[in-house]
Amino acid sequence: MGAAPAGAENRDAAAKAVQEMFTSIAPRYDLLNHVLSFNVDRLWWWRTARRFDAILQSPDAHVLDLCCGTGDMAFALRRRAGPAGAKVLGADFSHAMLQRAAAKGNGTSLRWIEADALRLPFPDSNFDLVTSAFGFRNLSDYDAGLREIARVLRPGGQCGILDFGEPRGLIGELYRVYFKKVLPKIGTLISGVRGPYAYLPASVERFPAPQEMVERMRRAGFCDSSWTPYTFGIAGLYVGVKAEGAPGSRPGVGR
Ligand SMILES: C[S@@+](CC[C@H](N)C(=O)[O-])C[C@H]1O[C@@H](n2cnc3c(N)ncnc32)[C@H](O)[C@@H]1O
Repeated sequence: MGAAPAGAENRDAAAKAVQEMFTSIAPRYDLLNHVLSFNVDRLWWWRTARRFDAILQSPDAHVLDLCCGTGDMAFALRRRAGPAGAKVLGADFSHAMLQRAAAKGNGTSLRWIEADALRLPFPDSNFDLVTSAFGFRNLSDYDAGLREIARVLRPGGQCGILDFGEPRGLIGELYRVYFKKVLPKIGTLISGVRGPYAYLPASVERFPAPQEMVERMRRAGFCDSSWTPYTFGIAGLYVGVKAEGAPGSRPGVGR
């Protein structure tokens, strides 16, 4: 199970469609993010980063922000880490998104790498923390994505996946009108690209519900997995700890 943009018939086609989609909206991505979320996205990135303060403040820690896009999650992690804290690396497979991240991060210690989240160019047990903000949902195979995150984490390392959810009740109903009817129109208007902003609500609908996602994390080798709703459940943070002995663990192997 994974993202399936309209017309994509298999996993490779889905990944290619996602890559082309983000490349096409890269020039307007930041503006659209802030407009469409009324700037609440900044609060979500900050809350996510704050959740991992203990790791971020360790000078020896290595952190990977997957599907980093134009870098805002990585910047939030960097700010919490401070000058003496963890080293943060952002990875994405869209060159255009990474170019913007690099331009915004010019002069910081952040580093960027062009890489596919399902085939990361890192050895086992390499990171203390792997995050992904609004990116994981776009992977063409969620279980393979979780296994790859678990592989590159050291045992005891943590994973934080921030993504959209589906709020319930009256707020949920009002939100769905906005998310499914209004947002695609504004997104298409500002980006000038038809498609990505219709794909967004469809991809959220397709994404596993929190309970199922937590179960998938457990199967991929995470223990203590949980989901914390943000802003009535419009977004939420999945956290998991890589279990000792999980696949990809190499006891005693570090960087
Ligand atoms: C919605 S953007 C999120 C960007 C950023 N994390 C944020 O919070 O704004 C999703 C990003 O995931 C990236 N992405 C999707 N699938 C990927 C994959 N298989 N490997 C690497 N990056 C991927 C896209 O290129 C895009 O930049």
